[in-house]
Formats: sequence, structure tokens, C-alpha cells
Amino acid sequence: MTETPDAAVAPAAGFRDIVRLEGVQKYFGSIHALRDIDLSIGRNEIVGLIGDNGAGKSTLIKVMTGVLAPTSGRIFIRDRAVDLGDYSVRMAHDLAIETVYQDKSLAEKQPLWRNFFVGRQITNRFGFIDIKRQKKIAEDILLNSIGFRGVGITVDSTVAQLSGGERQGIAIGRAMHYNSDLIVLDEPTVALAVKEVRKVLDFVRRIKESGRACVYIEHNLAHVHEVADRLVVLDRGRVVAEIAPRDMSVSALTEFLIDLQKAH
Ligand SMILES: Nc1ncnc2c1ncn2[C@@H]1O[C@H](COP(=O)(O)OP(=O)(O)O)[C@@H](O)[C@H]1O
Ligand SMILES: [Mg+2]
Repeated sequence: MTETPDAAVAPAAGFRDIVRLEGVQKYFGSIHALRDIDLSIGRNEIVGLIGDNGAGKSTLIKVMTGVLAPTSGRIFIRDRAVDLGDYSVRMAHDLAIETVYQDKSLAEKQPLWRNFFVGRQITNRFGFIDIKRQKKIAEDILLNSIGFRGVGITVDSTVAQLSGGERQGIAIGRAMHYNSDLIVLDEPTVALAVKEVRKVLDFVRRIKESGRACVYIEHNLAHVHEVADRLVVLDRGRVVAEIAPRDMSVSALTEFLIDLQKAH
């Protein structure tokens, strides 16, 4: 597949919400995993999705990104209703919605530049992979999209040489490259040391700076409170609160979530 040359360009205007869910229900057999979800993701906002284990966070983003079909309800992308019979991961990609899956999406032994183009090679007019151009784009992603300046990593480094946080950066940089309007992250900091978590938070900020939106699932409330523009709290499949971080301290937020758990 041929790529457009401009890495990390700001997405086009002309719509209000990137994604909107209306009355979404999801059942797994008798488990009611999502209950009457109404949720919009606006342009260029970081939405932190929080809630207890099993609250439905992963299911929600899977429905949003075409991995799982909702049992009922409606999905709008850029304000247009999606035909749910057709909605798929493929279509979500085509509509500029990218999901970063935990590390497994990177090829350990391959240089970084190859990792940016897995499955989406740039070919020249003879049909050969344009290595020079891919390296140049990869370098632009490293330096400009995710800011790997002066840390001893080049496009020829392998994934195996990277720390956990840096790997997340590569995966996020790759998602940014595909002209995405929305990047979805499901617990990207799981199992990372504190220093590595800081890096990931920095990458999340870069998503926003680049003009994109981000849905960020994070179990550490202090971290998500720090980077999100809006926090959406899920409890047993329902959206129970939408909070602006400036209106609620981390400790008040923690209390709130503990109280929800107590009510179970
Ligand atoms: N593929 C599945 N099959 C059956 N039940 C599932 C499946 N995925 C999730 N669930 C159930 O749906 C509920 C929500 O899970 P999940 O979305 O993974 O929560 P979270 O990401 O907030 O921890 C849980 O009760 C979970 O056991
Ligand atoms: Mg989950």
C-alpha cells in the first residue's frame, strides 16, 4: 500500500465529534458488559477512561474501534452513522481511528524503520519497497512526532534495544503516522517502571499537540488525571460520571472510585 508522504500532519476539519456512541449495549451471553453508553470523543481532546477491573473499559474501546460489534445502539464517526453490519477494524483504520495494542504489535528483531511500515509498505513505481523513503519518514516520526531526540536511538536500532516506555512511543508514533484523528490506548503503562511511565505520558501529550484526539485507558488515577482533558468513569458497564480534571483533585477522584466499588 502506498503512503502519503506527510507524517504527523494535523487532521482535516469539518466535523464535531470523531466518534459518538449512542445507546450502545454489549452482551457477552448473559453478561451485560456495556449498558446504554452515550459517549462522544471530540476533536483534539484526551479522554481518560477509568473504572474498576471488569467495568467495561476494554469492551467499550473494542466496540468503538470495530473489534467487537455492539449488541445494539448506534456509532457515529465524524458525525455520520456507521452501518454496524460493515463496521470493522479495517474500516476504523480507513476512517483514521488507530488503536495501539500492548507491545505485541512490534517486531522485536526488526529495525525501527521497518516497524513503522509493517503491512503498509511504501513502494516505488517499480513495485519495490522504497527503503530510503521509509527511513526518512521513520526518522521524521522519531524526531518530530514522538521526540526521541538525543537518546541514542536511530531508525536502525532494533525494538529489542528499547525500554518498555520507548516501545510504546514507537507504537504511538506509528499510529500518528497513519493520519489518524483518534488514537486509542488501552493501559499502555501496565508493567512499566515509573520513569518509563513518564515517557508514555509525554507521548500522550504529543498526540494532543499534533492535533489528534486520544482515548486513554489508565488504572493509575494520578497519571490519567495529569494528561486528560476529560475523565469518563465506567462502573459495571455504565458511564457514571464525566469529570473535568480541574474540577476534581486526584484524592477526591480516588475517593469517588472507592465509593463506587463499595456500592457493588
Ligand atoms: N470476550 C469476552 N467474553 C465474555 N465476557 C467478556 C469478554 N470480554 C469481556 N468480558 C466481560 O465483560 C466485562 C467487561 O470487561 P472489560 O471490558 O475487559 O473490562 P475492563 O477493561 O474495564 O477491565 C467483564 O465482566 C468481562 O469478564
Ligand atoms: Mg481492560
